[in-house]
Amino acid sequence: MSKHFVSIGQNFKAYLLVFIISLPAGAWAQTVAEGKQGAVASRSMLASQVGLEIMKSGGSAVDAAVAVGFALAVTYPSAGNLGGGGFMMLHTEAGDVLALDFRETAPELASKNMFLDDAGSVVKGLSIETHMAAGVPGSVAGLLEALEKHGTLSRQQVLAPAIKLAEEGFPLPGDIAAQFSRHQKQFKKHPASARSFLNQNKTYQAGEIWKQADLANTLKLIALHGRDGFYKGKVAELIVAEMDRGNGRISHKDLSGYEPVWREPIRGTYRSFDIWGMPPPSSGGILVQQMLNMLEPYILDKSRRNREETIHLMVEAERRAYADRAEYLGDPDHYPVPVKKLLDKAYAKQRFSDFNVQHASDSEAIGPGKWPEESSETTHYSVMDAKGNAVSVTTTLNTAYGNKIVVAGAGFLLNNEMDDFSIKSGFANTYGLVGNEANAIAPNKRMLSSMSPTIVTLGDKPLLITGSPGGSTIITTTLQVLVNVFDHHMTLASAVKSPRFHHQWKPNKIFYEPGALNEAEISALKNKKHVEIVPSPWKIGDANSVIRRNKGFISVSDPRNMGGALAY
Ligand code: DON
Repeated sequence: MSKHFVSIGQNFKAYLLVFIISLPAGAWAQTVAEGKQGAVASRSMLASQVGLEIMKSGGSAVDAAVAVGFALAVTYPSAGNLGGGGFMMLHTEAGDVLALDFRETAPELASKNMFLDDAGSVVKGLSIETHMAAGVPGSVAGLLEALEKHGTLSRQQVLAPAIKLAEEGFPLPGDIAAQFSRHQKQFKKHPASARSFLNQNKTYQAGEIWKQADLANTLKLIALHGRDGFYKGKVAELIVAEMDRGNGRISHKDLSGYEPVWREPIRGTYRSFDIWGMPPPSSGGILVQQMLNMLEPYILDKSRRNREETIHLMVEAERRAYADRAEYLGDPDHYPVPVKKLLDKAYAKQRFSDFNVQHASDSEAIGPGKWPEESSETTHYSVMDAKGNAVSVTTTLNTAYGNKIVVAGAGFLLNNEMDDFSIKSGFANTYGLVGNEANAIAPNKRMLSSMSPTIVTLGDKPLLITGSPGGSTIITTTLQVLVNVFDHHMTLASAVKSPRFHHQWKPNKIFYEPGALNEAEISALKNKKHVEIVPSPWKIGDANSVIRRNKGFISVSDPRNMGGALAY
């Protein structure tokens, strides 16, 4: 292993510890940074730089997180967004832990069977690739709400870096140029998408300066008019005109009526730590805690890491938690989610009482076994400062580049989050997740999510913030980061880098990354009747995280992607 110190940018004081470790093929260098004042980790180094500069110029972690959110909409368009939604967990200077839901909502014209044909069958692609797939965007309202209630800088200050990046452009990183090229066929179907992501219908090359004039104008309207700059006026007109072009459902009423919601966080404990997670309409907070509750009675020390007994134990916890997700979880404003019951440690004990150390439980009939078409469509970022603010945000358009439709004239992509509803009872969504009545489509309802922005506190201080993209694997990725740090006593960098595995009840398969399981462990698991143990076709998760250590912070990016961790 070689270790380099590199400074990035002329006037950039922060030193980056870049560990070039022996990584699996296709992995990037993991960036790890240490500092006393503030730290940020995100999927885009340019966006992380924005966050760091905001803190250095006197802003808090909340200001920085909002600025990073807007910057990601410019620099990481497959998941950073104005046209999507997300969740923010926030630890304030005053010591409060808050959960902000800015998930998209189903338009008022949405209906339970909108993605089915007359015979009641799912119409392929309708909930993914069309104008109808878009939920009412929540990101702009959510980020501005966080800033107004808990930030210290003005809207203009936090939006300025994103506007500059969009207006003046930036050298296109190689991974993003490759994404544009990969999706060019779909972008060419929509002139505004082609205008954004192609260079006169040809692909952009890495290093070319990429500018987004329409997006810069949209950001300026938001800086000027706040929420109304997006949900009313010119941008709203453009969104509704885009809907009219493609049989979309979002109306002016949906846009002007959109509200983010402060919700009571999921609070649980794991050993001596307090774990704070996102409540429904995300399943993340509940599932992470449910699984931790099931694991807590067991010893999972370092020597047991990646041993088949441990994988078996964790997979069985995953199997049960995801089965509960399919039945019980949905938007709490539309369905009575039994939150307390699911979080009860006594319930976990009872739910896990049929765990058999010797063999796998019998999952019901195996589902269609679909798997995400691609990873990294969602993105997670973490920011902490020395004042006690900690912000953990996961945001998404759902699949890569959402429905791939740019709102003409406004320069941003729309989400395809409607696919996160259970569009037909028992029908597996893009991530192979099944659901039922709790997550059926209804007007104004929020679709169930797996996003799991998490804050761990010790005493009254934030200790670790983490989370991930990865559809259904978000939850198991977050769980593994926590177990790696708190049970296996790994450094945060190793905990994040360590190869992962995943099980989600249906399909009844263990997916694993290279290096997560060796042949001996696989055959031991097979002996325990885990019949299908398959290499994961995709990298699992992208957990950009920050931990408090030695009176300062360590931020780390996930080497599975080209992210950036900074601190000062
Ligand atoms: O909210 C959810 O659970 C999904 N829409 C997240 C999608 C995602 O993580 C895609 N990224 N890999």
